[in-house]
Amino acid sequence: MKFRTALLGLAMASLALGAFAQQPIVIKFSHVVAVDTPKGLAAERFKKLAEERTNGKVKVEVYPNSQLYKDKEELEALQLGSVQMLAPSLAKFGPLGVKEFEVFDLPYLFNGYSSLHRVTEGPIGQGLLKKLEPKGIVGLAYWDNGFKEMSANKPLKTPADFRGLKMRIQSSKVLDAEMRALGATPQVMAFSEVYQALQTGVVDGTENPVSNFYTQKMHEVQKYLMVSDHGYLGYAVIVNKKFWDGLPADIRTQLEGAMKDATRYANAIAATENAESLDKVKKSGKTQVIALSDAEKSVWAKALVKVHKDQEGRIGKELIQSIYKETGFDPAKQ
Ligand code: LMR
Repeated sequence: MKFRTALLGLAMASLALGAFAQQPIVIKFSHVVAVDTPKGLAAERFKKLAEERTNGKVKVEVYPNSQLYKDKEELEALQLGSVQMLAPSLAKFGPLGVKEFEVFDLPYLFNGYSSLHRVTEGPIGQGLLKKLEPKGIVGLAYWDNGFKEMSANKPLKTPADFRGLKMRIQSSKVLDAEMRALGATPQVMAFSEVYQALQTGVVDGTENPVSNFYTQKMHEVQKYLMVSDHGYLGYAVIVNKKFWDGLPADIRTQLEGAMKDATRYANAIAATENAESLDKVKKSGKTQVIALSDAEKSVWAKALVKVHKDQEGRIGKELIQSIYKETGFDPAKQ
């Protein structure tokens, strides 16, 4: 009898162990934008690839649209291990104490995706990701969104048009300096709050790539969109280091492969997603799209490029110069 009870106990224990072994590893991936954006679609692609390649041993739960956390909270949640993966914009790493990422916010630093990729995929970009490790974070990849446009309820053709406007920015000191250089008053605000702030007049305008502008319905509450392409917005995909280092090595390798392919996908769709969103804004008839002339662009550039020099103390002169070398940017020629 005793023997049979012991056998039964053993069988139950191994059943429980089996069930435990089959529990998938869960990656909670939180982000603040809509699904139908470059980042939203890339996160879904990563989920699909990660689950397929690990044969379901990993389950990726994507939480879009600030469903779980807003900008600042999501970084705290990652460090605490409440979520495992994020892709914050590069303008949001300052509060973590890695202000060098704000170099990507310098106006006109990149004149297209290819010069940008030389930086993100080369030693500069990889060196920046390494700076996250002492914060308990591993940087896995850079994902593009695209180039930012300005919006407001009046046309913004010259810096004089910005005077007195309250403009929403992400939490970057470089963006603060950018808006001040144009004569506007910057206001840091979580992405999830921007639509309402524009609607109620808490702020007068903002900047973002069109995919974010359109999917947050900002075209319903902004009369003008200036196609200025004055700066870049992209993301670093990051994971909690303790979680990442604790994964079985074969699973981590499969996830790295899935991330590599999701990154290729993200960076292939970003420009098209933004172009399609621009068409949709135009078709909505709610926001007038204004293309800046070359002469107007050069007046903006003259006003904004001084931000590069002013921010050397914050970001590091060497880092800025090393990017100039990669992209061919010459501040004297603006
Ligand atoms: C913003 O806050 O404007 C952007 O960083 C949102 C995003 O993640 O694209």
